[in-house]
Amino acid sequence: MSVRTISAPKLVASVLPADFAELGRDVEQIDKAGIDRIQWDVMDGSFVPNLTFGPDVIAANRGRTPIGFEAHLMVDDPDPMLHRWVDAGCQIVIVHAEACRHLHRTLSHIRDLGALAGVALNPATPLDAVVNVLDVTDLLLVMTVNPGFGGQRYLADMEPKIAAARAEIDRRGLDIELEVDGGINTATIGAAAATGADVFCTGSALFSGPGSMSDRAHEMRTAATQRLVLR
Ligand code: DX5
Repeated sequence: MSVRTISAPKLVASVLPADFAELGRDVEQIDKAGIDRIQWDVMDGSFVPNLTFGPDVIAANRGRTPIGFEAHLMVDDPDPMLHRWVDAGCQIVIVHAEACRHLHRTLSHIRDLGALAGVALNPATPLDAVVNVLDVTDLLLVMTVNPGFGGQRYLADMEPKIAAARAEIDRRGLDIELEVDGGINTATIGAAAATGADVFCTGSALFSGPGSMSDRAHEMRTAATQRLVLR
């Protein structure tokens, strides 16, 4: 398998800071801002202290944009509902390694459903937790905050894990996107890119700050491009 070429960063918008009373409008705004993908932050109030939305909310917004959807399942025992996120229009389904009793089976099931399989690691979880499932993984999400809420500080001490993940993916020649999520803004995205991430999920820094959402997206994309490890 050849190493995936990386020529440009991908920006993913977390909907957590969106106006939940105007989600369709905000989805269209994200599209217009040139964002590559939307992350739906699914929280069950058990795996993480927060509670957000189910697949019906995602499905209701599917028609508002053609850009990709990823479901970030911050939920305990995601298996029973996996098909619902795909049916709702998500091309990528991301489960947490910490929430799956049989992670290899879960990731394989996501692929069998026709979606790309993603696995996320909380800050305390080592990369070792996923080295045996990377062959059935399409996206590795390294959390740079403890999940549950937006607007948190970027955890720079996750950078060695990002670098180790990049090294492992390249050593094995795997076609896996390496995404980071949490506290990503113009000041932190460059360091995350320099350590090997190529996909960047951002919420607060995209939805608020100087200029327009397009301006903020462009600024982050430029900062990531300048430090991205090309291959
Ligand atoms: C945290 C979520 C993140 C978060 C990102 O639990 O999974 O996607 O919303 O938001 P910011 O960019 O504000 O950290």
